[in-house]
Amino acid sequence: MELVRTREELTTARAGLTGTVGVVMTMGALHAGHEALLRAAREQADHVLVTIFVNPLQFGPTEDFDRYPRTLDADLEVCRRAGADVVFAPERDEMYPDGEPRVRVDPGRLGGELEGQSRPGFFHGVLTVVLKLFQLTRPDLAFFGEKDYQQLTLVRRMARDLDVPVRVVGVPTVREPDGLALSSRNRYLSPEERAAALSLSAALRAGAEAAEQGRDAGAVLAAAHGAFGAGTPGARLDYLVLTDPDLEPGPVSGPARLLVAAWVGTTRLIDNMPIRLAPRS
Ligand code: PAJ
Repeated sequence: MELVRTREELTTARAGLTGTVGVVMTMGALHAGHEALLRAAREQADHVLVTIFVNPLQFGPTEDFDRYPRTLDADLEVCRRAGADVVFAPERDEMYPDGEPRVRVDPGRLGGELEGQSRPGFFHGVLTVVLKLFQLTRPDLAFFGEKDYQQLTLVRRMARDLDVPVRVVGVPTVREPDGLALSSRNRYLSPEERAAALSLSAALRAGAEAAEQGRDAGAVLAAAHGAFGAGTPGARLDYLVLTDPDLEPGPVSGPARLLVAAWVGTTRLIDNMPIRLAPRS
């Protein structure tokens, strides 16, 4: 496995990869969720290229850029074990040699909703770095987690709308045995907060169960709200919504997505689940 830190080194390493290349973009602090992406890439592409970069552009002024976990040595070990061919881990100046880019990708209306409503500029920052990394790594396939479902949806949309020649592959969310979705930010949680964080997955599970029982959209949302409220106190709900699989306003039947965001202490957590609403009788 080769570690490259500059664009020049990346270009040389990329030129040496023949066959299809799958990219997994990360901010490091790799866990089993990232490993699922690496596995999918290993299975579906001839070569795996991982990027590790904590992108300042997607952090708000009061967010956790400075305290975001940076664990490069352990991350490289995870990549090596997973059979990655190349890891691109640039410094900030390598990615943004002229400082903050003046031109950014506009995520459109969806970029201002859900996560974008609480985190203004977040998806401009995400899509800008993702597009830059697409240009630098030129992958055939790109693997993104369903954990960040709005990000996955917007990256897909960007690839379509801006003709990026890449196939975007979604990978299901990896969870702890008790249901908590794995996230690099889980390590901020105290034991009490960790218990409160279960409210998110409990809400989604309750909604999914209600849908399986053939309940309608209103009842599904009510069940999810009920389970959120019945959890260990300490989680403050931001949103709990039911949408169609493309994050358009709620369907009344068929495939749908249930999404939740909440604050636990100073940590913001998100989660989501696919559900299927029964046909309307
Ligand atoms: P990061 O939070 O490090 O996540 C990198 C990738 O891992 C994303 O595609 C994310 O959805 C996926 N992932 C995280 N937790 C997961 C889980 N529990 N199960 C499955 N996949 C999971 O997302 C980012 O970084 C950044 O926004 C990035 C795309 C790298 C741009 O800076």
